[in-house]
Amino acid sequence: HSEKDSTGKTLYNYQGSWYYPNTVQAILNFQKHFRARDNDIILASFPKSGTTWLKALTFAVVHRNKYATNLVSHPLLSDNPHNLVRFLEADLYVNNQRPDLEELPSPRLFATHMPFQTLHDSLRDSPCKVVYVCRDIKDVLVSRWHFISKLVKKELNCNYPLEETFEKFIKGAYSFGPFQDQVLSYFKESLVNSNPVLFMRYEEMIEKPEAQVMRLADFLGCSFTEEEKQSGTVEKILELCSLGNLSNLEVNKMGTSTCGIAHQAFFRKGGVGDWKNHLTDDMARKLDEMVKKKLEGSGLKFE
Ligand code: A3P
Repeated sequence: HSEKDSTGKTLYNYQGSWYYPNTVQAILNFQKHFRARDNDIILASFPKSGTTWLKALTFAVVHRNKYATNLVSHPLLSDNPHNLVRFLEADLYVNNQRPDLEELPSPRLFATHMPFQTLHDSLRDSPCKVVYVCRDIKDVLVSRWHFISKLVKKELNCNYPLEETFEKFIKGAYSFGPFQDQVLSYFKESLVNSNPVLFMRYEEMIEKPEAQVMRLADFLGCSFTEEEKQSGTVEKILELCSLGNLSNLEVNKMGTSTCGIAHQAFFRKGGVGDWKNHLTDDMARKLDEMVKKKLEGSGLKFE
């Protein structure tokens, strides 16, 4: 089952989602060779939902005793979050690589854009923790359009109309899509009490960052102590990982991630509701209706 994307590249459907052929290969490679460790942490998201932020925050939270958050030597000040937390299917298992992950100290941090069912097959009933971040489809779409526009402009030197991204979202056939199927796959799992799946929302992280970072730390089993709270550790981590701070670091202004994308491309405007500057009311309504229909009865809502 295949489809063409707007630049003529072929997409294949695997376990309900659409991917470029090299991603399908990487997923098969991952599913065959990855061995989960019980204390692994996997950061999952749909592209453009706040993955970079979640990577930075989780890295800073988990390693906060190793690197004081106000020191100039913190790895987040000299390395991009995508280098510190690698994507399973977009970095580690690409090109038939068989990465040696055994040497990595625990807890190992990985990231993925795969839906839960595809990831889960490879966790082999491991109790490792999965953190999922989601974001309103309309902001995801606009963010993706900006992201792809830049790449298309650079690669093909042509413009990429927003309508094309919109049509792909409505059709469902775009890399890692459909969005709503993926969000639902993680949301359902997060409701099962025995499952170590934390469901986070970009909008809630923007609205109440302190509360959400504490929730993240609680879930990961490294809650902030009263002393840490009093001494401003949560705020320091938030400042370190803020869009303003990360996007102004030299390391993120230049350089390219292992999947070949300029670090800079992962930082833009951030926040909630930029879609209002780009989508028509009709586009917004169609997207909302499509998501609502898929999520009906699940308990998850985006209003
Ligand atoms: P916008 O394009 O709306 O600005 P991802 O990391 O999943 O690729 O998502 C990228 C989106 O998250 C972009 O959104 C980007 O600006 C935003 N983002 C990146 N780093 C962030 C941070 N530290 N805090 C908040 N938002 C961030």
